[in-house]
Amino acid sequence: MRSSSVFATMPRIFSTLVGLSLASVALSSPLHARQNGTGTACAAVSAAVASQSAVATPTVSAKLAYDCITSAPFNQSAALALVDGVVPYFKWQSNTVWLKDPPEEYAEKVQSAVDIWGELEEIRKNVVAAKYENEYEFGLDLYLLLQSTHDGHFVYVPDVIGNVFNFARPIPLVSVSADGKELPKAYVYSDVLAESFGNATFTASAIAKIDGLDAKEYLENWAQYGSLQDRDALYNNVFYELATVSLGPVGSGIGTFAGSGRGRWIYPGATTELTFENGTSRTYDNYAKVLVSLVGVADGESLYKKWLTGPPSTATPSPTPSSNSTSAVPSATPTPTPRPIPAPGYPPPVVREIHNFIGGYFLEDDYSDVAILSVPSFVGINAQKEFQDTAKTFLAAAKAAGKKKLIVDVSANGGGTILLGYDLYKLLFPNEVDHAATDRFRAFESTDILGQKFSEAAGTFPRTFVNETNGNETLAILNDNIASSVFNYRSDVDAQGKNFESWADKFGPGLQQKGDNFTNLQRWNLSDVLIPLNSGGIYVHGYGPLADYTEQPFAAEDVVVVTDGYCASTCTIFSELMRQRAGVKYISLGGRPREGITQAVGGVKGTNNLPWTYIQSLAQFTVTELNNTVEESAQLRSTELGDYFDDYVFQRATIGNAININFRDGIRDNDTSNVPLQFVYEAADCRILYTKAMTVDVTAIWKAVADSTWGGKSHCVAGDLGGYATNKMVKRELTVQDKVLSKRMHAWRRDLSAKDYPLDVFTDLRDRKLQGDGIMWP
Ligand SMILES: *[C@@H]1O[C@H](CO)[C@@H](O)[C@H](O)[C@H]1NC(C)=O
Ligand SMILES: *[C@@H]1O[C@H](CO)[C@@H](O)[C@H](O)[C@H]1NC(C)=O
Ligand SMILES: *[C@@H]1O[C@H](CO)[C@@H](O)[C@H](O)[C@H]1NC(C)=O
Ligand SMILES: *[C@@H]1O[C@H](CO)[C@@H](O)[C@H](O)[C@H]1NC(C)=O
Ligand SMILES: *[C@@H]1O[C@H](CO)[C@@H](O)[C@H](O)[C@H]1NC(C)=O
Ligand SMILES: *[C@@H]1O[C@H](CO)[C@@H](O)[C@H](O)[C@H]1NC(C)=O
Ligand SMILES: *[C@@H]1O[C@H](CO)[C@@H](O)[C@H](O)[C@H]1NC(C)=O
Ligand SMILES: *[C@@H]1O[C@H](CO)[C@@H](O)[C@H](O)[C@H]1NC(C)=O
Ligand SMILES: *[C@@H]1O[C@H](CO)[C@@H](O)[C@H](O)[C@H]1NC(C)=O
Ligand SMILES: *[C@@H]1O[C@H](CO)[C@@H](O)[C@H](O)[C@H]1NC(C)=O
Ligand SMILES: *[C@@H]1O[C@H](CO)[C@@H](O)[C@H](O)[C@H]1NC(C)=O
Repeated sequence: MRSSSVFATMPRIFSTLVGLSLASVALSSPLHARQNGTGTACAAVSAAVASQSAVATPTVSAKLAYDCITSAPFNQSAALALVDGVVPYFKWQSNTVWLKDPPEEYAEKVQSAVDIWGELEEIRKNVVAAKYENEYEFGLDLYLLLQSTHDGHFVYVPDVIGNVFNFARPIPLVSVSADGKELPKAYVYSDVLAESFGNATFTASAIAKIDGLDAKEYLENWAQYGSLQDRDALYNNVFYELATVSLGPVGSGIGTFAGSGRGRWIYPGATTELTFENGTSRTYDNYAKVLVSLVGVADGESLYKKWLTGPPSTATPSPTPSSNSTSAVPSATPTPTPRPIPAPGYPPPVVREIHNFIGGYFLEDDYSDVAILSVPSFVGINAQKEFQDTAKTFLAAAKAAGKKKLIVDVSANGGGTILLGYDLYKLLFPNEVDHAATDRFRAFESTDILGQKFSEAAGTFPRTFVNETNGNETLAILNDNIASSVFNYRSDVDAQGKNFESWADKFGPGLQQKGDNFTNLQRWNLSDVLIPLNSGGIYVHGYGPLADYTEQPFAAEDVVVVTDGYCASTCTIFSELMRQRAGVKYISLGGRPREGITQAVGGVKGTNNLPWTYIQSLAQFTVTELNNTVEESAQLRSTELGDYFDDYVFQRATIGNAININFRDGIRDNDTSNVPLQFVYEAADCRILYTKAMTVDVTAIWKAVADSTWGGKSHCVAGDLGGYATNKMVKRELTVQDKVLSKRMHAWRRDLSAKDYPLDVFTDLRDRKLQGDGIMWP
């Protein structure tokens, strides 16, 4: 239903495909009803699920799932409540005016314009005109409106899109270059595994066509369903990748093509036909995972009633805006010890955090000088302390082992906890400036009133970090809920590093751009006593109790960062510091089968996301707890804050999934045009293509990076590392420890086999406490 102009970037093939399926449903349902007693597609799904009682996640054919979900009826009044219900939260999205009218270079190289408010109005018109055939068609329009912004912090997934089914294809792919120089081609990953570990004579044939269309065109189009903005990063995310697989259910697993990450919410058609370059053609049945009980579901109506109207009375989010809900403060309740998540293709680590969020590795033989800090996440669950400890332990171990060079691999990194990004930078460069950009957010009625009330309340008690020893529980709660908030002007400092003098001083508005108002520029006060409340409990190295950390472990020219483009949110804050301040070079991997340089940082560059539930709790807390009188509460309720008392949008969202807006923009220091970093294109220093070896052994990536940076042997197909390449790696005398490590690495590599590589790693955020204040969830 959405106008094709906005979706100019979306593949025509899919609208055709969806159109066809809709037509066939319309034609076939009455026929089926007469032909078989079980009746509808939903009844068939329900029966199929019942027959798989032993299976944790039952599956049905994609077509049957699609026929079932599209048979859920469209409910006009419910749809109207939903499109109107999102409005108060959309207002918080920092960059709608920029999305509508982006800089030319962004529109040309990254993504085209999206008019959020105009498109929402179109959807509303279609609802009012009852143009939607079924609930799914409406839900998909709403989901794709947010997704099409390619701002990974802007996400709302209606129940009809994510509650019942996740779609998948049974064939994860990879995209690799034959020799590291030729443009990459797509392969079936199990072919590459067979070739790597099966027998020496097997040669995988590249995929020439998918469903009859040119493979690379098909895949570039499919890539657009992802959440990143950069098209080469999106392309990488289509495929099986060791770094994403190592994150297990909180990553984008085996790639969007096979139904991980954002691929899980898009119907891939009934089948997928691959035509290989050798002329062979093969058709695979696509499938859907059934995520919920369908007991009692007999048709679209009963499916609608059971899963698409929200729970009878959902637990209202607590009106206490504890910073835990957004900032990842470890909860007091003990969590069960997590089981290690497999990291296929990763060598034995020197040290690794149990969720694989961060790990340190050494390379062997000629590469014995090189240490690798692999950082696929900045932690979106409760593990901030473990992350920090792992980073610190590894850097110390690398220095102790005499390592001279450091590769930081942030592939798959969707961010997590903002202050962990600052902390890792400060661990590497303790004496560099502590910021490279400033932040701001939309200045409008809601943010203004919150700021006035929070700032007023925070002035009535001391700004103190309360801990076990100086415990005053009341004061602890006040500091956690009120004082540490961004809506207290005493949090953050201004662009010059000075304290704000009042809320009005922080709020501004500082700047009007494209018709929207923004606050004055601000940045973190890393010396603030309340830092642990905003960091999941850590202090930043160089500040507070960690002020004595001053020794830089590696020179900037001995550090290089490599990414697959999937570097979002906190990862982009870290990268801005690394590039702008420390001058560290960035290498991008893979990308579309096109010549030229690509971006290394391809995910959302907004510097803070807020969950809609958190926004709601802020507003409700202000109205009901920060009022001085009953009358004042009524007055506050009559402002825009009164718009946050309805729970409907939460009831109609996919269970257990993130619901976010991008709250703060990052503005590069000294960028007098004040363009949010999200809209700034920035080429990598060097682009390296994936090879088959790199898709089964991550050390093949790290060795290519080391060669190109210090080994005088460039794998860059575009860009170059300038002076770096003259700084050759020394071939050092191997120590006893080096020799032991080499032996272990050779044994590890020799023992690898195809069965080590799971082909079923899917994104699943249900039952996870989603935390993190700078994170793009897959
Ligand atoms: C009954 O109809 C459903 C819905 O189209 C179909 O999937 C199923 O295979 C049919 N069952 C039989 C026994 O024909
Ligand atoms: C449609 O949604 C409204 C809520 O807006 C609800 O009251 C009504 O029962 C729904 N209709 C059906 C047929 O489910
Ligand atoms: C070797 O490859 C051939 C051709 O694909 C296959 O038929 C055979 O089973 C493979 N052998 C082993 C040991 O994997
Ligand atoms: C062609 O290549 C595909 C994909 O590697 C492979 O599965 C198939 O066996 C090959 N066909 C022939 C005839 O070699
Ligand atoms: C928030 O953190 C405090 C300690 O700072 C803890 O007592 C409280 O239970 C936490 N709340 C939630 C919802 O985790
Ligand atoms: C508690 O806080 C005080 C200052 O607020 C600090 O001196 C002390 O080290 C802290 N104790 C612990 C256990 O964190
Ligand atoms: C705890 O802090 C609150 C708020 O500042 C204060 O009113 C109260 O007197 C304190 N209690 C103690 C025992 O210090
Ligand atoms: C922006 O701020 C100015 C000055 O406070 C105000 O007059 C104007 O109405 C605001 N514009 C918007 C779109 O909020
Ligand atoms: C930063 O925080 C500290 C501790 O809360 C405070 O004393 C200081 O005034 C703040 N601002 C600056 C600019 O340091
Ligand atoms: C604040 O408003 C609430 C109602 O929203 C009321 O129950 C409460 O008594 C008010 N607080 C004060 C201090 O008046
Ligand atoms: C911005 O300009 C100031 C003043 O010239 C300078 O100190 C600072 O380093 C610059 N920031 C960056 C990121 O270059």
